[in-house]
Amino acid sequence: MVLKEEKVSIIGRPLKDIEKYGKKGCIDLGKVVMSAGERPVLGRKIVMDVTKSHVVLVCGKRGGGKSYSMSVIIEGFARLPIEIRRRLSVIVIDTVGIFWTLKIPNTEERSLLAEWDLEPEVTNVKVLVPKGKLSFYKEKGLPVDGGFAIKYSELGTEEWMALFKLTWRDEEGILLTRVIDSLKESLGTYYGLNDILNAIEVDSESDKKSKMALANRFNASKSWGLFEKEATKIKDIAKGGQITIIDVSAYRQSIGMEGTRDIIVGLLGKKLFEERMLYRKEEESKAIKGEKIESDMPIVWMLIDEAHMFMPKDEESIALNSLLEWVRVGRQPGLALLLATQRPNKLHPDCISQCDLFISHRMTAQEDIEAVSQLRPSYLQGNFDKYYQEMPKEKGYAIVLDDNTEKLWLTKIKPRYSWDGGKTASAFTK
Ligand SMILES: Nc1ncnc2c1ncn2[C@@H]1O[C@H](COP(=O)(O)OP(=O)(O)O)[C@@H](O)[C@H]1O
Ligand SMILES: [Mg+2]
Repeated sequence: MVLKEEKVSIIGRPLKDIEKYGKKGCIDLGKVVMSAGERPVLGRKIVMDVTKSHVVLVCGKRGGGKSYSMSVIIEGFARLPIEIRRRLSVIVIDTVGIFWTLKIPNTEERSLLAEWDLEPEVTNVKVLVPKGKLSFYKEKGLPVDGGFAIKYSELGTEEWMALFKLTWRDEEGILLTRVIDSLKESLGTYYGLNDILNAIEVDSESDKKSKMALANRFNASKSWGLFEKEATKIKDIAKGGQITIIDVSAYRQSIGMEGTRDIIVGLLGKKLFEERMLYRKEEESKAIKGEKIESDMPIVWMLIDEAHMFMPKDEESIALNSLLEWVRVGRQPGLALLLATQRPNKLHPDCISQCDLFISHRMTAQEDIEAVSQLRPSYLQGNFDKYYQEMPKEKGYAIVLDDNTEKLWLTKIKPRYSWDGGKTASAFTK
């Protein structure tokens, strides 16, 4: 018996691929809104291709549903057929510390899920936090799977300068350059905090004051719980079939620690880019020989909430350059990005102009609407505002724009299987 496949709208996939693969390797996003108004009528399912590299931009005002939609997408990755899942590795940068709740079933929205013929379910994700902060999370009883660390030697002079907010003109900056150079020469890539402090101590060209000041900065950096002699292997983070949540929320409230978040994302972006380039070559040579295209490192998806922090417009950020590489040339090595932001106007314009999938929840700030409408291709003529006005007021609606098919849909994002960790704080306890 041949079952007729349910009609769906596929986004992010060109027609010839739809003919070849159908909706396999797509994840459920929601349903198309047939008519808006008081009681919106939902139509066919809308699914999103994740088997190729994309740049997805999710935007909308605060509380508009960005993190929720991201969770729906993460859940989708976990529910792909195994042969596709094995070829994908998903990394989520969690600035707020909300994605660990993917491990908890959404019993709270059981009735909403039932309307979609779904039930609460857990999603298998691996939550990593900075190694030095592990005990903090464990004490709070959060279901964390392990810690990650960055190798001291991964950071060059520039990164340390950015972290310590130093410039080339500062005496400490000059000392730092000498220290890092001498460590590289004498110890290569294997050195720790004590080696750095020693190198500062024995430097013969700086005065005592700058030595103390720089040593103090390095000592203070211990509390970040991030740097070690040995690093977490990139292969443990980007593994086929694995969804890794990198929780950097520990650095949220601390003033002067924004740089640490940047370093994590920037280095991760850079290393993944380099490794993926190498693997891509391996895959290509296999393809040329007619062998099965497979390698240890799969296609990598990086999902970043509050992306304007890492890819700001008119501002310096350590992560910016490496992420811009993803945006501009990630397609070839198989690097895909999903960026969520409430401030498209504050986001680097390349992210808007280069994205091929655009999911927008309600936006109200005029400068943000303009930032988006100005950079969208010409098929989006007419007034962008109009689409937002038509959007139902309830949560979870979004305009979905697909460059691949040049189509636009008003969409209702599906409910999530797992507990929503981003619920607005309320003074009411019930
Ligand atoms: N698709 C959806 N279905 C049902 N409720 C939603 C949906 N999207 C968002 N919500 C509700 O709106 C709240 C805010 O969404 P959230 O994703 O945290 O906003 P943002 O990240 O844009 O600030 C959620 O906690 C949830 O209660
Ligand atoms: Mg959010």
